[in-house]
Parts: sequence; structure tokens; C-alpha cells
Amino acid sequence: MFRSILPRARKRSKPAEAGVPRHEEVKFEDIRLYLVERKMGSSRRGFLTQLARSKGFIVEDILSNDVTHVVSEDNQPSPLWTWLRGRGLKDLPRMHVVDISWFTESMRASRPVAVETRHRIQDTFPTAATHVVTVSQYACQRRTTTENKNKIFTDAFEVLVDNYDFNEVTGPSLAFSRAASVLKSLPWTVQSLDTTHNLPCLGEHTKAVMEEILRYGRSFEVEKILADERYQTLKLFTSVFGVGPKTAEKWYRRGLRSFSHVLTDPSIHLNRMQRSGFLHYGDISRAVSKAEARALGNIIDEAAHAITPDAVLALTGGFRRGKEFGHDVDFIVTTPELGKEESLLPIIIDRLKQQGILLFSDYHPSTFDATRPPSRSFEAMDHFAKCFLILAVEDRRGWRAVRVDLVSPPWIVSPLPSGWTGSRQFERDLRRLARLERRMLLDTTPCSTKPRYRFLAAVTEKDIFAHLGLEYIEPWQRNA
Ligand code: CTP
Ligand code: MN
Ligand code: MN
Repeated sequence: MFRSILPRARKRSKPAEAGVPRHEEVKFEDIRLYLVERKMGSSRRGFLTQLARSKGFIVEDILSNDVTHVVSEDNQPSPLWTWLRGRGLKDLPRMHVVDISWFTESMRASRPVAVETRHRIQDTFPTAATHVVTVSQYACQRRTTTENKNKIFTDAFEVLVDNYDFNEVTGPSLAFSRAASVLKSLPWTVQSLDTTHNLPCLGEHTKAVMEEILRYGRSFEVEKILADERYQTLKLFTSVFGVGPKTAEKWYRRGLRSFSHVLTDPSIHLNRMQRSGFLHYGDISRAVSKAEARALGNIIDEAAHAITPDAVLALTGGFRRGKEFGHDVDFIVTTPELGKEESLLPIIIDRLKQQGILLFSDYHPSTFDATRPPSRSFEAMDHFAKCFLILAVEDRRGWRAVRVDLVSPPWIVSPLPSGWTGSRQFERDLRRLARLERRMLLDTTPCSTKPRYRFLAAVTEKDIFAHLGLEYIEPWQRNA
């Protein structure tokens, strides 16, 4: 780190060169720094002030409304913010309050670097006034952990989304999905609609639902849906592996209302996937734990390595985002040997069958064509070889069935471990931002729309973010 070469003053020396005339040439007119002495100490502050001025930065000795960047070495936000708020600055909400890393990076670059979220010292008790930290309308520009502070709202929105999807009403479905995703990203709980002014994607209807929940603890619109027979039935039917909204609707129209209706109706012909879905219903509707995911990883890793020693397996999907439980386990498996990845899945499936643990398999060979432009479809990995499996795994209670997804992209397209990480909203927005803001189409590799769909060499996930001009978002921050 650059920081280590800056001398750290241990003993107190006389106050820094306040008032000493400045001769350095100012290079950055429109920014003004203020270094907080707390924790930094006065002699280190003096040294850093000189360093910055020698590089053409304006450093103010006094904290006033002119300051644009407040730099603090004290990364404990609450005493710092208490102190800052006590200064009575009307422009405080506009200032960047950053830690020393922003300063050292700017010194190293000899210019002010862009303030990123990781530089900011966030106010621990944000009030409406200091809340101007803008929230992006794109999930890929927000950091969303698994901790959802607004579950009471997002659960309600998800019921509305499902209901709109059942009725094939796409606009409002998308609107509520986006609103839920924005609320999931907040490090605070919405307690009043007044605090939501600066939030994107919250429309009139969304706010009306929130208002009801704030006022009565529940939404009557949502309660009505939950009590609706059609909603309940479609929800039940689509909970079966292999049953989508279309099939569920068809069964509903025939007057079927329960699993036993479906299973005893002689006119219903279940396909192979649905038969397995019903057969293993109890097991696969039970959440999969991280430990079970790991155990499965070992089994598949072993199978892949038996085929080719340079096979690489990576956990992806919800578990890669740090979730404790999942509805399935997702893996990417590939090999640096180009073309060989295409034969990987069939051989792995075969091996699992020989081991007697394969309960169901639905394999889709690759339709990927590097010479064709990426599709606009939202599912990023649509074209790669993949399979949807049900495997038997042993846990403390004995054997159980678990849903497992494997995808096998060619190495150059998706160096491990990118893609299939999700969340779905995060990936949708990555592609939406690429298309609308950057004029690029995004499969797994970003590719410029002009000229002639040139594929850009994507090397790592970090490169993909950088190429799109985005701050890197860690997998555990993609739970949008
Ligand atoms: N995916 C995809 N195409 C599909 C299915 C899934 O590209 N036909 C990708 C999506 O990128 C999705 C990821 O696989 O984000 C994981 O999907 P899924 O397993 O359904 O969801 P998770 O986020 O893993 O959540 P859960 O823990 O419930 O499994
Ligand atoms: Mn998953
Ligand atoms: Mn999956």
C-alpha cells in the first residue's frame, strides 16, 4: 500500500504550517480538501497537506461550505459524523466524506480519483437531509447483501409480481421487481415515505402499497391476492419442478385445484420433468444447506476430474452470493482445453448415473455461436451447454433428493467463476445498463454494438465491470 510510505508522526509537534504562504501551482480548481485532524494528528496532517499542495490540490485549513472532500483517517463513522454535523454546515450533504484511501489513491495518481462507495465513510444515522447519496436505478450499481432490512415491503411486492406474472401483465411485474430490488439494497428500514424521495423505481402504485403497510402493517391488495383461489392454485402448481405458469393455468382452467386432482386425472399427461417433480416434491421443496451444497461440489468435482484433470468447478448462483440456503445448487464447470467443455456434461451425467445417484437429468447441448451477436434475452447463459439434474445426496437424516444445475461455457467466454451468479435482477440490470447506457450488448462477454458486434476479450469478472465503467461489485453484494 502507498500508505505505508507516508511517515506516521508519533510525537506531537508544533501545529502544522497553517498560514504559511502557498506557492504551489493549483491544478484542480474545483475541488477543495479538508483533512480532519482527529486520529490523524497535527504533524501527519501538516505533512499530508504539503504533499497534496505540492501535487496541485487545494487544501483548506478550515472546514467551510467551500470544501468538497472531507478526508478522515478515523474510519469510525459515528463520532466523525457527530462532529461534522456539529459544524453547522449547510452544504454538508453535498460533500464527499471519504477515508484516507481516497487521499492516498489520489496522491498516487497525482489527480483526484473518482469517489467510489468503498471510499465513503457512511453516516450511521442518515437523516432525510444527508440522504443524497444517490441510489442507482440499476441493480448492478447497488450493493445488496443477503440482509434485507425491508422484507415487510419486498415480500408484499413479490406476491404482486407473481400475480402479475400469472396474468401475463409485464409492465407492473417489472416495476414491482425493480422496486423490491431497490428496497433490498438499503442499509436502513423505510419508516416513512418521506425518506424515499431520492429512491429510484418507486412509482405511485408501489408507494401506495408501502403506505398501507406503514400504516396498517399489511397491504389489503396483497391480502386479497393471497386469499384468491386462482393465485393459490397457480402458486401451488408452479412450485412443482417442470411446471410453469402456462401449464399451471391450463390445469386450473380444467378445474384442477390440488396435486391429487392432477395426479388422478386420466386426461393429464405429465412429461418426464413433471413426473420427477411430483415424485421428489417433498425433498426438492426443502431448502438446500451450504453444507449439502459443498458435499455436492465434491461429488461433481470428482466426476469432472475423472474425465479431465484440468477441469475446473465453481459454485455459483445463490450460494456464491453468500446465501445460507438455496432452492438448488448451481455450478459452472469448464476446462481450458477449448471445445472439450462440450463433452464435459454428458460424461459427468453418465458417471453420476453409474454411481446410482442420478434421479433425473435434462441435458441441453450448447447453441453458442461466437460469430453471432449476443441475444437480447435476459438469461445470460442461455446458449451454453447446461443440465438440470436431481441428485440423491446423503445427509444426517439419510438420503434426500436435491436439484442441481450445471452450466459449461467455453473457457474464453466465461473464465471462472463468472456468470450464473445472479441475482436475476442483478443480471437483468447489467444487461439493461449495457444496452441503454453503454450501447453494448452483453451475453457473458461485453461486446460493442458497433462496428459489427466485435467481441471484446473478457478476461475476468472484474474486467467486465471495468469495461462497462462500473465499480466492481462483489458476489455477496449482488443479492439484488
Ligand atoms: N440462470 C440462467 N438461465 C436459466 C436459469 C438460471 O441463466 N434458465 C442463471 C441466472 O443467472 C440466475 C442463476 O442462474 O441468476 C441462478 O438461478 P437460480 O438457481 O434459479 O437462482 P439462485 O439465485 O441461485 O437462487 P436459489 O438460491 O433460490 O437457487
Ligand atoms: Mn440456485
Ligand atoms: Mn439454478
